[in-house]
Amino acid sequence: MRKKNITAIVKELNIRMKKEPITLRYIHILVSVVFFSSTASLLFLVSLYFNQQFQTSLFLVKDSSSNPLTSLPPPHSSGNDVADEELMWRAAMASRGVVMNKTNPKVAFMFLTRWNLPLSPLWEMFFKGNEGFYSIYVHSSPEFTEEPLESSVFYKKRIPSKAVEWGESSMIDAERRLLSHAILEPSNARFVLLSETCIPLFNFTTVYTYLMRATSSFIGSFDDPRPIGRGRYNPRMFPHLSLSDWRKGNQWFEISRKVSAEIVSDQRYYALFKEHCRPPCYMDEHYLPTLVNKICPEMNSNRTVTWVDWSRGGSHPARFMKEDIRVGFLDWIRLWSNCSYDGEVTNVCFLFARKFHVSTLEPLMQIAPYLYGI
Ligand SMILES: *[C@@H]1O[C@H](CO)[C@@H](O)[C@H](O)[C@H]1NC(C)=O
Ligand SMILES: *[C@@H]1O[C@H](CO)[C@@H](O)[C@H](O)[C@H]1NC(C)=O
Ligand SMILES: *[C@@H]1O[C@H](CO)[C@@H](O)[C@H](O)[C@H]1NC(C)=O
Ligand SMILES: *[C@@H]1O[C@H](CO)[C@@H](O)[C@H](O)[C@H]1NC(C)=O
Repeated sequence: MRKKNITAIVKELNIRMKKEPITLRYIHILVSVVFFSSTASLLFLVSLYFNQQFQTSLFLVKDSSSNPLTSLPPPHSSGNDVADEELMWRAAMASRGVVMNKTNPKVAFMFLTRWNLPLSPLWEMFFKGNEGFYSIYVHSSPEFTEEPLESSVFYKKRIPSKAVEWGESSMIDAERRLLSHAILEPSNARFVLLSETCIPLFNFTTVYTYLMRATSSFIGSFDDPRPIGRGRYNPRMFPHLSLSDWRKGNQWFEISRKVSAEIVSDQRYYALFKEHCRPPCYMDEHYLPTLVNKICPEMNSNRTVTWVDWSRGGSHPARFMKEDIRVGFLDWIRLWSNCSYDGEVTNVCFLFARKFHVSTLEPLMQIAPYLYGI
């Protein structure tokens, strides 16, 4: 519409208004406002549409197939060091487009380790006889190249890894790398993040059933009013994130496929945290708890299934040694709490526990037949 026309219309309106009674004048003004605002929104929508088309075509240039899963082999099975960005991109696309294979749902056990897995014999016992119901992914220091024996469940389960600085964004990158690998396998339904100091508290059947029946995810997420909680919120994150969105929680999560998809495809909040969550703000304590609270709060139970002991105070949780391992202690962790599980109260709140020193392996192996009912 040309400027001349608009001026003419306004002039004409003015002349008419003077002649018209007051109510008719208001109706005219209203009609004009509605007309101009709808034209503006139409223009806005059209520009948005073209922008979207442009972005989609950018993706299509990279990969002409609509299904990234079938166009390329999964990175872990090919053994290729797939570039991180391509991996994330494929995972984000796959998570949106590919329907899960529900025939034989698996739990993806993702180990984020510094070096090796000193408690692996206990895990081997845990996994034994349950082949086909789990997948394993290990992210370790890139300098660590030692391969376990071919008979081990951890044989060739290492994914292409990068160096991780504890408390830095590289830790979140490693978690996203693990999730991206795991989500590309359509049979993975639940995703657990574990460290090398974690132990399973129940046998595989119990853990598998607990996770598969759960309708929500287990990411610890709470509002901590103290300086070590709300105090770490950076007002520069506003208006994308406000203080009321801000949450804290333990990084060791257990999540559904839906929540995993949300995490691997998040660019916006990841970038915001990377820029504005710097020490004394730690991304691994705030990014995921805040993200789920912001984008899918109804999918989270807000509690973790990985037990840890903060009762001794300080900035690190307690580490358990050989002499701490007793049936009573483990049963206390396993059965002596109250929490909600799909709307009902249960005393089984934790499936895993940390931090267990390598010296605990021997007594744990002795107690294992009791713990796992074997
Ligand atoms: C789903 O998984 C089962 C068992 O692993 C397999 O036999 C089947 O072919 C898969 N289905 C699809 C559609 O991939
Ligand atoms: C797993 O443990 C439960 C009790 O926690 C027990 O009833 C069940 O028999 C065990 N299953 C296997 C396969 O060991
Ligand atoms: C978890 O917290 C969010 C936001 O605080 C809330 O909307 C949601 O209902 C909570 N979930 C449960 C199971 O309490
Ligand atoms: C858990 O709840 C039950 C019943 O509500 C109660 O008897 C028990 O003392 C509680 N246990 C703990 C550890 O809070």
